[in-house]
Amino acid sequence: MTIRIAGTGSAFPKTVVTNDDLAKVMDTSDEWISSRTGIKERRIAKDETTAGMAAEAARAALKDAGMTVQEVDLIIVGTLSADHFTPSCACEIQAELGAVNAVAFDINAACSGFMFSLHTAYAYLQSGLYKNALVLGAETLSKIMDWEDRSTCVLFGDGAGAAVVRREEEGIFVFDQGSDGVKGKVLSCKARLVNNLLVQQGHEPDYVHMDGQEVYKFAVSTVPASINKVLDKAGVSADEVAYFVLHQANIRILQSVAKRLKVSEDKFPIILDRSGNVSAATVPLLLDDMNKKGMLKRGDKIVMSGFGGGLTWGTALIEW
Ligand code: UT7
Repeated sequence: MTIRIAGTGSAFPKTVVTNDDLAKVMDTSDEWISSRTGIKERRIAKDETTAGMAAEAARAALKDAGMTVQEVDLIIVGTLSADHFTPSCACEIQAELGAVNAVAFDINAACSGFMFSLHTAYAYLQSGLYKNALVLGAETLSKIMDWEDRSTCVLFGDGAGAAVVRREEEGIFVFDQGSDGVKGKVLSCKARLVNNLLVQQGHEPDYVHMDGQEVYKFAVSTVPASINKVLDKAGVSADEVAYFVLHQANIRILQSVAKRLKVSEDKFPIILDRSGNVSAATVPLLLDDMNKKGMLKRGDKIVMSGFGGGLTWGTALIEW
């Protein structure tokens, strides 16, 4: 028993913010952002919400899969920027779609959120507990950015990507995942402060802080190792893989991973030039972009990998 992705979908906020737009309001430039990251523009939410974009992406994925909402029995959303502490983004999507037969919950594994959600769906589906899952990555990161910190705010964007995942008899699904909480401080954002009858910590909101170079070093060593682990487990060579669909944080990370794996950069498609880093959403956003362009053929072997806050990482080899 295994799983297969049967459909994909995505949604972005309407408003495009280019590097030049940012350079008008802060001390940065298209040259700095493009050459350091490959990012040219990102979408920023105005009235869009994490759950609203996620529901739109989910509807598109169900349509692509030819599946009715009643057939969905599991909804998992990878997110660190849900609209509420509770209800979860997944429960909000369930309500919005009328997916009355589904159990729904969120997973916070930062930029690995979609991969951790996919692995969790695999465990449920492969065990026979559920049959059809909606797996998403959805973020409104713009609300947790410090817009006075040019070293982080220029990197991130908003959006949501979805995949319909089905239990199937045949196919490949091999995965690896890990966490290293000891290094968690290199990418962090505090939740609400304690303000109760006994303690008053104040009401200063916190924003994302990142030690970019530490995260960079972590990514370029951990991601190729995780990919190699999965390929070894499956007995598949890197040459046999059609595409490496990686978390879109920085084009230099993708180039470094390609080099370490001795694989052509052409096998590492990108969407970060148009999306920026959308944390948990980048892998399904890119997958949907590729699907729409007709790049994915039945039987293709695809490696997907997410990495980031926690620290966390998750990789899967699938057959399309
Ligand atoms: O999704 C989570 C995973 N996240 C990542 O994978 C991020 C990984 N890290 C990175 O992608 C890179 O470390 C960054 C793109 C975040 C930063 O690139 P860097 O080459 O490590 O730059 P830096 O932080 O060392 O900064 C170099 C210079 C500094 O100036 P000085 O001190 O050399 O004078 C910064 O102040 O660039 C300056 N700088 C900027 N300049 C113009 C920082 N941000 C900006 C900016 N525009 N937006």
